[in-house]
Amino acid sequence: MSDMTVIGLGAMGTALAEAFLNKGYAVTVWNRSPAKAHALAAKGAIMAASVEDAVRSSPLIVVCLLVYDTVHEALAPAREELSGRTLVNLTNGTPEQARATSHWAATHGANYVDGGIMAVPPMIGGQHALILYSGSRQAFDAHSKQLDALGTSKYLGEDAGLAPLQDIALLAGMYGLFGGVMQALALTGSAGIAAGEFMPLLMSWLHAMQGGLPKWAEQIDAGDHTSNVVSNLGMQADAYANLIDAGTAAGISSELVLPMQRLMKRGVAAGKANADLTSLVELLRSPEQVD
Ligand SMILES: NC(=O)c1ccc[n+]([C@@H]2O[C@H](COP(=O)([O-])OP(=O)(O)OC[C@H]3O[C@@H](n4cnc5c(N)ncnc54)[C@H](OP(=O)(O)O)[C@@H]3O)[C@@H](O)[C@H]2O)c1
Repeated sequence: MSDMTVIGLGAMGTALAEAFLNKGYAVTVWNRSPAKAHALAAKGAIMAASVEDAVRSSPLIVVCLLVYDTVHEALAPAREELSGRTLVNLTNGTPEQARATSHWAATHGANYVDGGIMAVPPMIGGQHALILYSGSRQAFDAHSKQLDALGTSKYLGEDAGLAPLQDIALLAGMYGLFGGVMQALALTGSAGIAAGEFMPLLMSWLHAMQGGLPKWAEQIDAGDHTSNVVSNLGMQADAYANLIDAGTAAGISSELVLPMQRLMKRGVAAGKANADLTSLVELLRSPEQVD
């Protein structure tokens, strides 16, 4: 019997299995393409001959596949073996997919914990690899020592959808940042300014702006977007038009920046010109009706 089984040996699954091995655990591994297990076997992992054998080998089953459909497809032949075991699914997905998979696991007698990995593979095993968990508290507590081998664990609650929800929210913040950085570098690059030359200025500006985010949280939680406003929406909407125009004049696509302008205009039209930018969060919660 192994301590845990890792199913899915892509870039992330391989890193997870390695982190368990590095802590001295007995690890069984399985992947659709068996060749990916060879390097892990050389480090001491046990290669299961089938997914059924893989599940039978351990009380803790950690799955990290591409998408949830893949999880269901890969685990289907082993569903009868899941009874009495804990399934920890670290595949990226939606809260609805996590809840449905939790229900599916329960019908097969398995304890279910969903997870969101806030790290890239080289970070796994280090303290900066944050892993969000939600689902069965009892199962999480029973295996938290083993799961701590992967990074810093954070348990969010019994609802299996909580980890993917917050995972996706963190990714939304990340992609917003990355999109802005891409736009900035396309613009400065069009003027012959190297990305490496502009990046320190950009990073320092983003760092300064990040300092205002705790005030955002206060305003959003209080539903008060009009007290102590220093940069009102109306002013920002006018300045934002220059961001679009300068990019267009430089031959830069505006596909990343137009949606924000549409939202700002909707805010101004809704009478929020004197409110803070945070008031736009309320508009996001009441989407535009498109015929
Ligand atoms: N890599 C990252 O930076 C990162 C960060 C955070 C979260 N994640 C999440 O971690 C999960 C895995 O990512 P990854 O980077 O390891 O992806 P990957 O390298 O592309 O590996 C994908 C895995 O899914 C398997 N797979 C795909 N289709 C399958 C099918 N129909 N049946 C059985 N197995 C199938 C692949 O098996 P084969 O080897 O046989 O193709 C492989 O094990 C994803 O949900 C991803 O969003 C990744």
